Amino acid sequence: MVQKHLTYEEMTNFGCFYTPEKFVNKTIGMIEKNIPDLDKYFLVDTSCGYGTFLKSLSKYQTIGCDIDSKAIDIAKKMNPNASYFNLNSLYNFSKTSLNLNEKDKIIIVGNPPYNDITSKIKNEIKKGKPCLIDNDIRTRDLGISFMLSYNKLKADYVVILHPLSYMIKKANFSLLKPFFENYILIDHCIINSQEFNLTSKTTGFPIIIAIYKRDGRGFKYDDILNLEFRTIDNKKFNLNHDYIGNYISKYPSKWKQKNDNDILFYTMRDINALKRSRTFIIDNSPNAISIDKNKISYYCYVDVFKDYIDKLPYYLGNIEVFIDNEEFLKIQDVFITKSIFKHEFLKDKIKWDSYNDNYHLIDLYFKKLFAKI
Ligand SMILES: C[S@@+](CC[C@H](N)C(=O)[O-])C[C@H]1O[C@@H](n2cnc3c(N)ncnc32)[C@H](O)[C@@H]1O
Repeated sequence: MVQKHLTYEEMTNFGCFYTPEKFVNKTIGMIEKNIPDLDKYFLVDTSCGYGTFLKSLSKYQTIGCDIDSKAIDIAKKMNPNASYFNLNSLYNFSKTSLNLNEKDKIIIVGNPPYNDITSKIKNEIKKGKPCLIDNDIRTRDLGISFMLSYNKLKADYVVILHPLSYMIKKANFSLLKPFFENYILIDHCIINSQEFNLTSKTTGFPIIIAIYKRDGRGFKYDDILNLEFRTIDNKKFNLNHDYIGNYISKYPSKWKQKNDNDILFYTMRDINALKRSRTFIIDNSPNAISIDKNKISYYCYVDVFKDYIDKLPYYLGNIEVFIDNEEFLKIQDVFITKSIFKHEFLKDKIKWDSYNDNYHLIDLYFKKLFAKI
């Protein structure tokens, strides 16, 4: 079932990273465990690729769509039991497009493409034109548009794989508001993006296999802080922590003029971004934050946190830098000392004479904090 008819460029444009079999099986197991009377529903994959999910559900009524006609041809050969449609599921799409009535009950299954149209990393590859998308579901990310399309279809259940960041990043959660207002999460499991062929070659990010049920109540962003997330290998975590954004600004303020005495720091995003980005910088740029010198220790905290990032698991990759403020304040001079020695140019900018190079205190601090989380 490994995708083999597209070039790397085409794959990136359409987000065609087909799901490994073990995750398809895991998803099917979750469907059968959580949804009663499956034979009363149509199981629909609106981005079906070769139809891997539908093949495993072929004892039920199954329907597959894909914008890619070659994928649909292959799907028909692999699993003739399903009905297929070669169409764009994000444009003028409704139950009627699938020869269904409004009253028919449907369960969306599958792995929609995730493809941040604005992301810098793959912009070089994404030269192709994006597909047409209805105005009311058009966003900067194909996957988010797909989730909004399930809400428009009023699917009774939605069982999909999607980046955990759609749920845990406030900006994404807001884009998905119409979806989250109508669906609750009834079961889930977190997996590592690195286990998909050809994606995330360097940095893994968490993907959630989620079962959502349409129940009219939905959930709010704060509810997510109380969720206990579980990974496929039974690790547990939650997001209810103290974060660096509670102490310092993570983004540059546009209106502020920068001058030569300023200390500059690179824009902060999530932990995975910090892995790749710089911290203290010399040259000014639109991404440079001119820091409040009274809060220097917190910026040193982020700078030193970066040295420990490799000890964190993939599933924390999309949260922001977290902190135990009380413990940190006890040893902030050690953090400042460490940063000054890492970045020579800070010596001239920071008036500082209480050096403390008891770095093992930092080791201990992170050991305790990571264990707690
Ligand atoms: C991540 S792949 C998933 C394929 C399959 N469900 C699997 O997991 O093996 C995403 C699929 O979405 C299809 N696709 C992308 N944009 C689409 C659109 N607007 N309408 C329908 N299908 C689309 C791609 O052609 C690709 O086959």
